[in-house]
Amino acid sequence: MVDLKAQYHRIRGEVDAAVARVLESTAFIKGEECALFEQEFAAWCGARSACGVANGTDALTLCLRAYGVGPADEVVTVANTFIATGEAILLNGARPVFVDVDPVTYTMDPARLEKAITPRTRLVLPVHLYGHPADMKAIVEIAGRKGVKVLEDAAQAHGAEIDGHRAGTLAHAASFSFYPGKNLGAYGDAGMVVSNDADFVARVRQIANHGGGTNKYDNVVLGTNSRLDTLQAAVLRVKLRHLDPWNRERRERAEAYAKALAGAPSVVLPRERAGARSAWHLYTIRTPDRDGLQAHLKAQGIATAVHYPRPIHLQPAMAAAGGKPGDLPVSESLCREVLCLPLYPELPFDAVQRVAAEVRSYREASVARA
Ligand SMILES: Cc1ncc(COP(=O)(O)O)c(C=O)c1O
Repeated sequence: MVDLKAQYHRIRGEVDAAVARVLESTAFIKGEECALFEQEFAAWCGARSACGVANGTDALTLCLRAYGVGPADEVVTVANTFIATGEAILLNGARPVFVDVDPVTYTMDPARLEKAITPRTRLVLPVHLYGHPADMKAIVEIAGRKGVKVLEDAAQAHGAEIDGHRAGTLAHAASFSFYPGKNLGAYGDAGMVVSNDADFVARVRQIANHGGGTNKYDNVVLGTNSRLDTLQAAVLRVKLRHLDPWNRERRERAEAYAKALAGAPSVVLPRERAGARSAWHLYTIRTPDRDGLQAHLKAQGIATAVHYPRPIHLQPAMAAAGGKPGDLPVSESLCREVLCLPLYPELPFDAVQRVAAEVRSYREASVARA
């Protein structure tokens, strides 16, 4: 699915030098690379301010803490996402309210959002799934009319755009993950909160560093330890310099898949909404008999993944939210039909052709059998 070693080999000299610099400095916590990476990533997104944290799950959880989300509050989100989106809500004591997604982009359906907002709603939390930005103009407009803030879950969407504006600037704030397989991935866990609201980012920073005040042992609010570590920041600074070309290489491979798979029977290809640019974190097709196709590709030595096999409103861990099968028909059918094909910047174009040919031949044989 991804080849992190191929990526490391492209930038080995730069990464090794950056790591050596941190080892020599021994500033493993809150070293200068952390502040520099925060500035550089915020600028890359086009935002004013950023705070590095330990991972993308904490980025979400800390944002909700900083918004003051708590028991008696509702957060409107989607269910076809990684469990972290829901965890952040329940861990803050609030109730997730799930809305179904648009069947073309698989992101929050603004038409369903309005009805889901109640006087208890504290926040709307759309997810830019697979790197495609949710319909933020509509979502921010609807939420704004109701006086509710919007937080982007941009864990999969470094560089996704709407009308030339990048994820991280499409709502009040955004949370990012730098899990190793992401478009911008660390060599371990890392995450970031990005916003134009510097006071909000300062609140996140305070909570992420034991609720600290001006002096080291002032602890003015209840916080935790969720700092971005310096080694990860140093690696991420190197990789950020390559992210634009890498994202272009992802797009070229997505375009190659689209050409090679055009007209394959019962294969729905990912599409971009007008004005939106995906970061192409994942190339996800929809097809009946998904499990059969996945087994066929595996037998040919082709790795694929299902993001995600179960919508989170039906995960036992989310039982407190009271979700039932049938609540979210689009999200639930996606979980039965989606399949992510290999996609990463170094993926050879002949591999794209081979994967596409196997998908097409499997589907054509299914149609012939039917
Ligand atoms: C949509 C989404 N949100 C949140 C997260 C959590 O990020 P992390 O794994 O860095 O905690 C992920 C990571 O996979 C994700 O895909």
